[in-house]
Amino acid sequence: MRRRGCGSKIGIRLPTAAIGPCLGGGALLRRSDSGNGDANPSSDYRRRPGRAASVAYAPSQRIDSIVLERQNRAHVLQRIRAGVLEAGTVDLLRVVGLGERMDREGHPHNGSAIAWEGRPRFFIDTKKFTGKSMMAYGQTAITEDLYAARDAAGGEIIDEARNVALHDLTSTRPYVTYEKKGQTHCVDCDYVAGCDGFHGVSRQSIPASVLRTYEKGYPFGWLGIMSETPPFPDLCYCYHSRGFALASMRSPMLSRYYIQCDLDTRLEDWPDERFWQEFKARCPKDMADKVVTGPSIEKSIAPLRSFVAEPMRYGRLLLAGDAAHIVPPTGAKGLNLAVSDVFYLSRALDETYKTGKTHYLDCYSDMALRRVWGAARMSWWLTMLLHRFPDETPFDQRARENQFDYLHASEHAQASLAEQYVGVPFEA
Ligand code: DHB
Repeated sequence: MRRRGCGSKIGIRLPTAAIGPCLGGGALLRRSDSGNGDANPSSDYRRRPGRAASVAYAPSQRIDSIVLERQNRAHVLQRIRAGVLEAGTVDLLRVVGLGERMDREGHPHNGSAIAWEGRPRFFIDTKKFTGKSMMAYGQTAITEDLYAARDAAGGEIIDEARNVALHDLTSTRPYVTYEKKGQTHCVDCDYVAGCDGFHGVSRQSIPASVLRTYEKGYPFGWLGIMSETPPFPDLCYCYHSRGFALASMRSPMLSRYYIQCDLDTRLEDWPDERFWQEFKARCPKDMADKVVTGPSIEKSIAPLRSFVAEPMRYGRLLLAGDAAHIVPPTGAKGLNLAVSDVFYLSRALDETYKTGKTHYLDCYSDMALRRVWGAARMSWWLTMLLHRFPDETPFDQRARENQFDYLHASEHAQASLAEQYVGVPFEA
């Protein structure tokens, strides 16, 4: 195939482009300005003391990108995903100008309750232990906000891009080909951000001799519904001998509820009444009495999986989000990890274009993976704690009960969970 540049160069704000993984597309980043960046004191994150990076830096506005999306916009926007944002995600969205609607419509929360069958319910107070708040705000809404920001900036999104292929990734001039309406197109780029999800082509473009993968499956899924009803006041994780249940929220009139289900569960066997009955059977009576039920506006089943691919960089390809890792939904880490990957990625590209240095690019994979493994471990642990496993032994059950009692009794254990739940800070 002849290599040629094509497609218009569009100037966009980097963070908006880089959060492209939430769109499920791939952002192709290309140079529009060979790094004459003005020294912006607030962007000199390397001078900040301590290990934690502030997200309050203003990224370069001069890196063009093109987003390739396999689906069309309507399809992307009708998907319901998780929606609990870590404190760092909330800060970052505000800093990059995506916080306005989130602050208006989101549901701030300061922790979550844990209810255990036959034991008192208690609250993991993330605000008390970390001083930080979280936000319930749906990924679908974030995706709408990202589209709006990208449209406003004149950023290019090519949807229904088929047969995307990545080429010459270890050269200094990689390129990407794709098909649209029967024609093959080609984009020259400096870097390829592989944000195309678990099934995308990006991770598969890394040779097997380089890629290491780590995986764990779980013998159940989550059956979830969305309803236009006022949510239960606290986000509440329930352990019950019938299986796990979760009461979550999106906004004051939008609730999200889940129950653990078998992998062969069929949606048609779960009319709303059956769902509500089962949900209420798994939570404490006083809670069940307060849950406001109503018709579902969405119902879906998701299997649970833990997966991590290493490294997250191969030549000029940088993986981000589900292209590199999947976590079970317990703990709501998936979206937050995509955002933190993109924070590290945008900072790396920003540094490279502004200064020619590659410090952050060179440590992108290691730095991102430290955070990924932290979230992978936490969501695996919470999944093991809160679910019933078909082959568990009486020993497993007693050990789990003891783990719960320890969490209930120990402020240290609660503080540790709160720290992970609210999200560890980005590394400097
Ligand atoms: C959701 C919320 C959670 O706290 C969680 O652990 C998983 C999912 C949600 O609202 O979708």
